[in-house]
Amino acid sequence: MKAKFSSKIGIIAATVGSAVGLGNIWRFPAEVQENGGAAFLLIYILCVFLLGVPVMLSEFSLGRAGGADAVGTFRKLTPGKPWWLIGLLGILASYIILCFYMVVAGWTLEYMIQSITGNLYQPVDGTDTAGSFTARMSQYIQSENTPLIYIYIMIALNLAILLGGVKKGIERISNILMPMLFLLLVIFCCVSLSLPGASGGVTFFFEPDFSKITPTVIINALGQAFFSLSLGMGVLITYASYFPKDSRLGRTAFTVSVLDLLVALMMGLIIFPAVVSFGLENESLRGLTLVFVTLPEVFNQMEFTTLWSSLFFLTLAVAAITSTISIAEVSVAFFQDRFRMSRAKACLCVLLPTVLFSTLCSRSLAAGSSLTVAEMTLFDFMDMLATNVMLPIGSLLMCIYAGWVIPRRLMLSQLTDNGTIRSHICTFILFCIRYIAPPAIIAIFVSSFL
Ligand code: PFF
Repeated sequence: MKAKFSSKIGIIAATVGSAVGLGNIWRFPAEVQENGGAAFLLIYILCVFLLGVPVMLSEFSLGRAGGADAVGTFRKLTPGKPWWLIGLLGILASYIILCFYMVVAGWTLEYMIQSITGNLYQPVDGTDTAGSFTARMSQYIQSENTPLIYIYIMIALNLAILLGGVKKGIERISNILMPMLFLLLVIFCCVSLSLPGASGGVTFFFEPDFSKITPTVIINALGQAFFSLSLGMGVLITYASYFPKDSRLGRTAFTVSVLDLLVALMMGLIIFPAVVSFGLENESLRGLTLVFVTLPEVFNQMEFTTLWSSLFFLTLAVAAITSTISIAEVSVAFFQDRFRMSRAKACLCVLLPTVLFSTLCSRSLAAGSSLTVAEMTLFDFMDMLATNVMLPIGSLLMCIYAGWVIPRRLMLSQLTDNGTIRSHICTFILFCIRYIAPPAIIAIFVSSFL
């Protein structure tokens, strides 16, 4: 018997768990900052609803109709044809993401522990405060061995959850961790918004300057939306194969997208007011440094430094773990379904090699490392390959497949939940899947090479 999620809440918690991750907390605020603030936000919201939701619904429809892993779904829906290669591409992409995402997940844990012990806030000799956090970052992240221990703990936690299975592992842990994550974010929002001068940050985040909208801004917003919603890698096909037949696809896609957006908004409301309030807006706000250097500086200037810092990195670790389990589940389901493996064997086959690949990824960041590909560290290369190349190609092929290859009737019956919801909304969604999403995705892909 195919495993299924057991409740509507479980479906939402697990899928939101996959979507909400380091992409929302770590990548989104940096993208907003780099792409002109509120104008980016506006385009991002349009991308989520006009493109993200239709692509998500394509994946949901394929997964629920096929009822199998990412490769098996294509095989069932179009037997004897090579379309299953799309699923295989998704599995490969998700595996590459898993290996470098696990490295960042390890850092979140390391920062949490270093916050609890207070080490993070011990000044490093010979540096001022800002220099101190940069020095700490290289000490924690760029050293050869220290990060590995935390990465391995993260892998072990993933293994423990995944061994529990779909219902008792993924669904149960998501039901516990997701409400906790939302609660922590609400607390942080309240703290940040009550800082003196916070309104400057809110204005930056919410008052659009339309002159800032350029093709690059639009394309970056699209890329961020797809990454954040976990699209194009078979994650949502795999999760949808665990949806009971009577689940509501449209409602689920809408709820997941709204909650994912809400977390991104909350992160903006946490970071920008805090950064403005402490006068740090001129510092580099690029991904890594924003969360691992700028925020510790903010916490350092606040009362109860240890408490806020430990809770924040706990929030990050929680967000990371509910995403890594979903990324790993794509390959676990593949091994289980294709090779008829037991769950335990499949989990080991997926996670044991991750130990090696994540080690290499992490080592490639160490000073003087020779682990480089095409003049990039292995870490950056894997990120670039999966996020900028495989993810857009995967999403594009999935839209073409859902929109043009499988019978329109089958898609419409999935989208309307077997005729239970109004069909003109679904016809519009199918229109987006066929005519709007493919050219838009081609635009992101091409732009990533310009
Ligand atoms: N959506 C996750 C985040 O925002 O962090 C990242 C992610 C998960 C990307 C699963 C891709 C994926 F298949």
